[in-house]
Amino acid sequence: MAAPVDQPPVAPEERLCTSSAGGDTAEVTSLLSSGADPSYFDPNGMTPLMHAASHGHTAIVRLLLDAGAPWNAFTPSGLCAGDLAMEGSHQETVDLLLGFAVQAELILGTITRSKRDDSNTESSYLDERVAFSEDRIMDTESKAVMMSWEKPLMEAHARAVCTNGGRVLNVGFGMGIVDEAIERYEPEEHTIIEAHPDVYARMLKSGWGEKKNVKIVFGRWQDVLPQLGTYDGIFFDTYGEYYEDMREFHQHLPKLLRPGGIYSYFNGLCGDNAFFHVVYCQLVSLELANLGFSTQFVPLPVKDCLSKELWEGVRQKYWQLDTYYLPVCQADSDSDDLN
Ligand SMILES: C[S@@+](CC[C@H](N)C(=O)[O-])C[C@H]1O[C@@H](n2cnc3c(N)ncnc32)[C@H](O)[C@@H]1O
Repeated sequence: MAAPVDQPPVAPEERLCTSSAGGDTAEVTSLLSSGADPSYFDPNGMTPLMHAASHGHTAIVRLLLDAGAPWNAFTPSGLCAGDLAMEGSHQETVDLLLGFAVQAELILGTITRSKRDDSNTESSYLDERVAFSEDRIMDTESKAVMMSWEKPLMEAHARAVCTNGGRVLNVGFGMGIVDEAIERYEPEEHTIIEAHPDVYARMLKSGWGEKKNVKIVFGRWQDVLPQLGTYDGIFFDTYGEYYEDMREFHQHLPKLLRPGGIYSYFNGLCGDNAFFHVVYCQLVSLELANLGFSTQFVPLPVKDCLSKELWEGVRQKYWQLDTYYLPVCQADSDSDDLN
């Protein structure tokens, strides 16, 4: 009889992946307590957390997160554990991962820049030329500053911030799509802040400086806000800035927005990953809640606005999701007296 062939021992991390996928809580507990690394990637680029999440093993997901498994690791095809749980419709697992991710981001503040503009710095964008065409504005790195597919979204934002009429503020003119829509609501006063010299020059050339209810303020919102008043509706959509900049803008809202006023922003945060996008929606909503605002997200289907050809010549597909969540923020009624 032939002697049995010795099998090489299976690494504890491989066993962690297998037991996480198989829902073996006792084995996962034992492997973690004997030091198996929860941040291991198997040969298919999957972590134990991804295996557990894709099968909806919530208790194991909790054990792995507590042991330090990274919630924000990606498979080779760009999915994180939360995406895999969402794909499998494992809502309990999704909720657990979401709560953990939001807390982690709140505490650590590690997400520092908008995915829409990963490598630009604000000053370099504003210092460089932009190129205009009928359906887009491009920066010098072939990234889109603004694209016309967003028109239905901009029209919905305009409708939201013009609900109360009165004085409306838009931060970031771009192609002027949202401003054209705001004008159709005939606000009493329509203030536009724009910081890029080329965009500003184009605004003047196309007659925006002569509209009688329109006030153009040329400069960075960071510099010009002190000279402004208060508004019934505010929309924020800049480019070349980081998430922290938007957070900083939000700190001004309690003074800028009149009681009952409506604030909205372009919700492109992590528009290329479904789970990260939900994390960001919750994060902003929590941060606005700390400032006394409640946020509702109105879902708008956008699949039909996006075609493959749309992104030809654009270096970064800044939006890849089927649904856009339009934020509508209002001061909580009991915080009105703070304004
Ligand atoms: C995405 S576009 C806005 C698109 C606009 N919502 C529309 O409907 O066409 C962003 C605009 O914000 C401007 N911008 C960037 N940083 C700014 C800042 N700090 N202050 C004011 N405007 C800024 C950019 O020059 C650009 O025109």
